[in-house]
Amino acid sequence: MNFGADDAYYAALAGLLLLGVFTFYGTVKNLSPYGRLREGGRGATEATDATLPSPLAWLLFESPQLFAFAATFWLLADHHSATALLLFALWQSHYLYRGFIYPLRRNDKGKRFPLLNVIFGFLFNLMNGYANGYAVSHAEHLASNDWLTTPWFLIGLLVAGVGWWINFDADNRLIALRSDGSSGYKIPQGGGFRHVSAANYFGEILLWSGWALMSLTWAGLVFVLFTLANLVPRALASHRWYREKFPDYPPERRAIIPYLL
Ligand SMILES: NC(=O)c1ccc[n+]([C@@H]2O[C@H](COP(=O)([O-])OP(=O)(O)OC[C@H]3O[C@@H](n4cnc5c(N)ncnc54)[C@H](OP(=O)(O)O)[C@@H]3O)[C@@H](O)[C@H]2O)c1
Repeated sequence: MNFGADDAYYAALAGLLLLGVFTFYGTVKNLSPYGRLREGGRGATEATDATLPSPLAWLLFESPQLFAFAATFWLLADHHSATALLLFALWQSHYLYRGFIYPLRRNDKGKRFPLLNVIFGFLFNLMNGYANGYAVSHAEHLASNDWLTTPWFLIGLLVAGVGWWINFDADNRLIALRSDGSSGYKIPQGGGFRHVSAANYFGEILLWSGWALMSLTWAGLVFVLFTLANLVPRALASHRWYREKFPDYPPERRAIIPYLL
């Protein structure tokens, strides 16, 4: 029996789900904290003592989303319809920014990032880039340009667009908090932060929910599930951290879902 690209797709989906379970467990238990949760020193273990400079870590582990998606999309595709090409362009634009520009914009020079997270992140992003690139260039419904006028695509595009904007705006507000050259933490204000402590994660979840609707593939759905498993526990921990650290923290602010959670 030959193990083909199709088998690799389903194997990647299974691997992504498994990593999602590990990630959820690891984040809930705070086993390998980074950023503000690491600074607090909570939950750091020997396994996470090995670290890399933060900008290098982000560049390393985000880059496979770009090249794995591109490799499968161009080398293994069944079709390159206008729909698939549009999804390709949207994905690549996002990860060009996220993998190569955003890590250099973050004001976290001099900070360290756990090597364990880089390895897990690299593996996840490699499989996720492969699975999504494969899915959009193989799904039959995406081979037709009619897909671009379906409610799935149009509603998904709207949700993804709103999510992208909330995420981008929130990341910019966090970057601006250290424009004075400081390296500590302040209370973020404005934009999505009026409602939640993790406005960037809220935007990220909307973005990938929109992607899942626009593409309507198993790979898109698995990516949303992973994003939830990764970011919801981290947002809850960060929200507790803010409340402990800042006595004047806005009491009405929720953790990640406005008015709810
Ligand atoms: N799809 C996914 O599963 C996924 C997973 C992870 C991240 N992401 C996305 O990647 C981006 C970054 O994620 P992240 O986990 O690093 O976000 P984060 O913990 O909110 O940190 C983002 C940046 O802002 C700084 N920062 C955070 N809170 C601050 C405060 N109160 N005062 C001053 N600076 C502050 C951080 O500095 P420090 O490094 O010093 O804390 C870091 O440089 C987000 O847009 C997120 O949505 C996506």
